[in-house]
Amino acid sequence: MDEELTIGAVSDRTGVATSALRFYESQGLIHATRSDGGQRRYVRDTLRRVSFIRIAQQVGLSLDEIRNALSSLPDNRTPTPRDWERLSTSWRPRLDGQIAMLERLRDNLAGCIGCGCLSLKVCQLANPGDEAARLGAGPRWMMEQQETP
Ligand code: FES
Repeated sequence: MDEELTIGAVSDRTGVATSALRFYESQGLIHATRSDGGQRRYVRDTLRRVSFIRIAQQVGLSLDEIRNALSSLPDNRTPTPRDWERLSTSWRPRLDGQIAMLERLRDNLAGCIGCGCLSLKVCQLANPGDEAARLGAGPRWMMEQQETP
């Protein structure tokens, strides 16, 4: 297997557009060297980093969160399973919170989410007079469990 990949090869294998790869590089999320002709070359473990970025973005994590996580990985060598395990352990609470929110969304969307609309019959019981507003902005009944661990 080629140890150095072109931007096109990384794009083909990860399904991420070359423009996005250049953007990730400009954000310090991935790194490239240059060939004699000035073309980008990526080490093979960039495929895992790019795949990680894609998955993290799909579950709603910000670029800053992703950058912080990737910065915990060594730059000068291929990250080991231990390196990735350390990263995933640091992320576990964040991901658990995301999973819990998604489950609430899946299970409660037919009910009152405490958003202030009072548009459902159940809102009269679950959020009389929009009492949820006292707790702050947004769909409070969805968020409460996330914000009060
Ligand atoms: S769903 Fe909006 S206040 Fe109940």
